[in-house]
Amino acid sequence: MHGRPRKLKVFMLTVMTVFLFIIVEMSRNTGQDKLGRNKTLIPNKQFWKKPVRSKAYWNLQQEQLDYLNNPILNGPNGPNVSLPDWLNDTIGRESCEPDLRVMRQNNFNLLPDRFKDFLLYMQCRTYPMVVDQPKICKEDMFLLLAVKSLAPHFDRRQAIRESWGRAGLLANKTVVTVFLLGNTTTMDHFPDLSEMLRYESSMHGDILQWDYRDSFFNLTIKEVLFLDWLNASCPGASFIFKGDDDVFVNTLHIIEFLKKLTPVKARDLFVGDVITNAGPHRDKKLKYYIPESFFVGAYPPYAGGGGYLYSGSLAKRLHGVANKVALYPIDDVYTGMCLRKLGLAPEKHKGFRTFDIEEKYRANACAYKGLMLVHPRSPQEMIKIWTWLTDPALNCQ
Ligand SMILES: *[C@@H]1O[C@H](CO)[C@@H](O)[C@H](O)[C@H]1NC(C)=O
Ligand SMILES: *[C@@H]1O[C@H](CO)[C@@H](O)[C@H](O)[C@H]1NC(C)=O
Ligand SMILES: *[C@@H]1O[C@H](CO)[C@@H](O)[C@H](O)[C@H]1NC(C)=O
Ligand SMILES: *[C@@H]1O[C@H](CO)[C@@H](O)[C@H](O)[C@H]1NC(C)=O
Ligand SMILES: *[C@@H]1O[C@H](CO)[C@@H](O)[C@H](O)[C@H]1NC(C)=O
Ligand SMILES: *[C@@H]1O[C@H](CO)[C@@H](O)[C@H](O)[C@H]1NC(C)=O
Ligand SMILES: *[C@@H]1O[C@H](CO)[C@@H](O)[C@H](O)[C@H]1NC(C)=O
Repeated sequence: MHGRPRKLKVFMLTVMTVFLFIIVEMSRNTGQDKLGRNKTLIPNKQFWKKPVRSKAYWNLQQEQLDYLNNPILNGPNGPNVSLPDWLNDTIGRESCEPDLRVMRQNNFNLLPDRFKDFLLYMQCRTYPMVVDQPKICKEDMFLLLAVKSLAPHFDRRQAIRESWGRAGLLANKTVVTVFLLGNTTTMDHFPDLSEMLRYESSMHGDILQWDYRDSFFNLTIKEVLFLDWLNASCPGASFIFKGDDDVFVNTLHIIEFLKKLTPVKARDLFVGDVITNAGPHRDKKLKYYIPESFFVGAYPPYAGGGGYLYSGSLAKRLHGVANKVALYPIDDVYTGMCLRKLGLAPEKHKGFRTFDIEEKYRANACAYKGLMLVHPRSPQEMIKIWTWLTDPALNCQ
């Protein structure tokens, strides 16, 4: 009766001993042949990759910037390098004259007009501010809501003011809302709305406007100018939400989320609907089309431009790094590039629904309670959803 388990024990011990022996032998043999001579381990493939210089325009511009900003090449008194000839064919930075040299690119005339316009003004990062609110930010400000809008979108802005963007005290935290505008020009056949805009601005005091052409490819300019403005006029904001004017934002949920963050987490916060492993679209028919002659490579992880949330501390670092990254015509990808330059990556949060929620839940008040952002929503829908969420009788268990 007791013989069997003992046999089993002996068997187990033997197996373990053999096993241990094999392991010891294997580790002893590593790197040596049978005679104890050292084997030279030669990798069968080259383990390093020779950098391939790309001829794409953006990549060359970035190479130039990296060279100029290289701390090893630059002395303590600033840049003390002249560019190697192969890089010094491009123009100096911060020029707001159209850069006619880009026309020398062999396929310039074949590019879509928006690319021609982008390339001609790619070096320019400063445009005059025509409407400012220098005193809108308070000292102990918790959350700044910065909404990318277009001059004619009066109804969207008003709906935001009456719903999720209502400035003041919310959940015992100070919230301030600003709308970011460029100029809608007669060149793009926009009607002249400047008088109406002036009236709106005097009524609400929440419009920021710069004098540049408000177009899809200039949204990156909007980002850069906003970071400048933040640094100059709103350095005390603890957190910033930046998004479009066709989204619903659950500001209450965002504040609850922010209140719970640890100081370490709060410092480097950057959350949104993060897109990873993406690259430029090569289909000419798409709004996001990028020609090979302009950019090659993969995109860094980036948070969809519909709306993302970040800390004031990170905003300062983004502002510092932005002029080390060549302007890219897609604003959210550009912000991802700046984050990567800082050695950071945006974090995905499942409450950011830039691709909407399932249709069957869209009319359900409780479906929005745990979300941060839903896209797209009309002005009426924004007000409706906000009414649901702020109703004290709302009961979602
Ligand atoms: C094998 O390499 C070890 C360390 O890498 C060295 O100490 C030892 O002398 C070498 N043996 C022979 C035979 O070259
Ligand atoms: C810049 O570099 C040159 C030579 O490489 C050197 O003579 C000069 O002193 C440097 N200037 C500064 C300001 O560091
Ligand atoms: C580029 O080359 C020109 C002419 O050789 C020179 O004057 C200029 O300083 C160079 N620019 C840079 C940024 O190195
Ligand atoms: C509201 O915030 C103030 C200042 O941050 C704080 O002193 C106060 O206790 C808060 N009140 C509530 C009800 O949380
Ligand atoms: C942009 O708008 C401002 C204010 O309405 C106006 O003064 C300016 O001339 C406009 N710029 C262009 C290029 O249309
Ligand atoms: C961006 O704005 C500038 C300044 O108004 C304008 O000249 C340029 O054409 C715009 N670029 C695009 C791509 O619209
Ligand atoms: C950011 O703001 C500070 C304080 O107003 C100012 O000293 C600094 O020059 C600004 N930074 C940039 C890059 O504009």
